[in-house]
Amino acid sequence: MTNDLYAVVGNPISHSKSPRIHSLFASQTGETLEYTAIQAPLDDFPGTVKQFFERGGKGLNVTVPFKEQAWTLAQRRTDRAQTAGAANTLYLDADGGLAADNTDGCGIVRDLVSNHGVRLEGARILVLGAGGAVRGVLGPILAERPDLLTIANRTVARADALVALFAPVAGQTRLSACGFEQPGEPFDLIINGTSASLQGDLPPLSPGVIGARTVVYDMMYSLQTTTFNHWALEHGAQTVYDGLGMLVEQAAESFRIWRGVSPATGPVIEELRND
Ligand code: ATR
Repeated sequence: MTNDLYAVVGNPISHSKSPRIHSLFASQTGETLEYTAIQAPLDDFPGTVKQFFERGGKGLNVTVPFKEQAWTLAQRRTDRAQTAGAANTLYLDADGGLAADNTDGCGIVRDLVSNHGVRLEGARILVLGAGGAVRGVLGPILAERPDLLTIANRTVARADALVALFAPVAGQTRLSACGFEQPGEPFDLIINGTSASLQGDLPPLSPGVIGARTVVYDMMYSLQTTTFNHWALEHGAQTVYDGLGMLVEQAAESFRIWRGVSPATGPVIEELRND
C-alpha cells in the first residue's frame, strides 16, 4: 500500500518549510504519510491541482501566489475560507468535490493567544496592510472580540474595502481604516501584514503607536529579527514576535482537517527555530 500523499503548491516553492513541518507532525503523531512541495506553473495552477488529486493525492496546502485561485477553484468552502477570500488548504469532500479551507487566521490567533499569552479580547489592535494576507486573518481575529481594530494601509481605499467587508462580523469591535501616518496613540497589539519588508521598506508609522506594553507581531518570519520588529524594538517595544509560530499553527490546523489528529506545535516551532 502506498502512503497517503499531501503537498504544498506555490511558485516559487523551494524554500517552503511545510514539508519539514508536516513530516515532523507525522512522526510525532504516528501518522503515515508523504508530503512534498510542488511548483505549479504561474499559468496553470488548476491543472496542477487536478493532476494531484487525479493521481490519488489527499490534500494540498496552497501558498503565494495561488491562494485566491484555490478559493475560486473550490466547489465548497468553509465559512472562514468564504470570508477570507483565499484558501490555503484543499481536500476532497465525501462526494469527491474540491473543498477549501483557510487556516491562516486560526494560525495567528493560536500563536498569539495560546503560545504567547496575548489577550485579544478587549484589546486595541492596529493591523498594517490590506492585502490578501490581512484579509485571510481578520475574521478569526475579530471573532476574539477586540475592543478596537484599526486597519492602516498605504492605499487607504483597500483598507476601507476591508472595513466594509468585515463590518458584518465585527460585532462590538470598533473597526476603522486609515493611512500609516494617522494613528498616534499606543496600541496593545500591532500586527504587520504588509509585504513592505520584501522591498526593504518600512511603513511610515508614528513611533507613538508603540507604548510600554505594546506587543508587536510580524506575520513574516526570518532567522534574524525582521525589519519591522527591529524598528519596533528601536522605538521601545518590549515584546516582538515573528510569524514562525503562525506558520506552524496554520499547518497543524490543516493536518487536523486532513488526518483528524492535532499535533503538538511547541516542539515543532522550537525545532524549526533551531534549524
Ligand atoms: P499579500 O498576499 O502579501 O497580502 P498583497 O495582496 O499584494 O500581498 O498585499 C501586500 C500588502 O503590503 C498591501 O497592504 C500593500 O499595500 P498597498 O495595498 O498600498 O499596495 C502592502 N505593501 C507592499 N509594499 C509596501 C511598501 N513598500 N510599503 C508599504 N506597504 C506595502
